[in-house]
Amino acid sequence: MRALELTTVRKQFKKKRGEMTTALDGVSLNVERGEVVGILGPNGSGKSTLVRVISTLILPDAGEIRVFGVDAVRKPKIVQQTMNRVSVEASFFKKLSARENLLYGAKLYGVTGREALPRIGTILESIGFDMKRVGEPMEHLSRGMQQKIALARALLTSPMLMLLDEPTTGLDPRSKKDVQDLVNAIRAQHDSSILLCTHDMGEAEDLCDRIGIMVDGRIVELDTADALKRRYQQNGHLPSLEEVFMAVSGTSLEDADARESEKAEKAGVN
Ligand SMILES: Nc1ncnc2c1ncn2[C@@H]1O[C@H](COP(=O)(O)OP(=O)(O)OP(=O)(O)O)[C@@H](O)[C@H]1O
Ligand SMILES: [Mg+2]
Repeated sequence: MRALELTTVRKQFKKKRGEMTTALDGVSLNVERGEVVGILGPNGSGKSTLVRVISTLILPDAGEIRVFGVDAVRKPKIVQQTMNRVSVEASFFKKLSARENLLYGAKLYGVTGREALPRIGTILESIGFDMKRVGEPMEHLSRGMQQKIALARALLTSPMLMLLDEPTTGLDPRSKKDVQDLVNAIRAQHDSSILLCTHDMGEAEDLCDRIGIMVDGRIVELDTADALKRRYQQNGHLPSLEEVFMAVSGTSLEDADARESEKAEKAGVN
């Protein structure tokens, strides 16, 4: 049975003035058990929306989502217990300590404090979180530290499917490496399957079995990094993943990001 199976999933959002944005334009995607699939795509291409429909935070307009065979739209409660999501905008009880937030997160998944406490130590140590600060309120921690707590919270519940939405964005190089090593360790130890959205080409190449490239709400390519490079080979030159990305999306990540913020400015979003 597959960890994740998406069939022609669509999602539109209402903009101001009654216009619609198509965030997901018929996305079909499979993630096998134990597989790590990366999604690359410029700002606004639909990566986070994809993660949010899978995690049952929002409902798709059409299409089917199955997590270990279970329909995520019809049986969200069952599906929620088998997966966990880490995103850049992770939410916490700000006044509570990191430890309290982690214990609360574990409890939601039926993991008791007695089970969770020793694991909190092990996980936080492995991602280089300073244990002296685990008792401090979340709001006193830096973004990077909070990101590590978000990741630890997801790992505590041993999810069979992990949805990682830019898990290393905003981390310093050392912490980034710690988090990436941890993701690799999870793959090796557990039978977890991972969907990882990232802007980091190196991260995608190092961590992912297959890489999808998302443009305007569609996954336009999905394959191993090597296969993608071979497909976009020109005159015997094997392109880098960044070059493949440019060829596929008609732009580089930086250009695309710049264009997107320009668009947002014009639309008065910011
Ligand atoms: N709640 C919402 N309401 C209205 N529009 C939304 C909402 N969420 C996302 N969108 C729109 O859907 C599109 C896809 O957004 P999404 O956040 O999925 O992109 P992304 O690929 O994750 O981008 P980024 O790389 O910046 O994180 C964008 O046009 C965005 O403005
Ligand atoms: Mg996003």
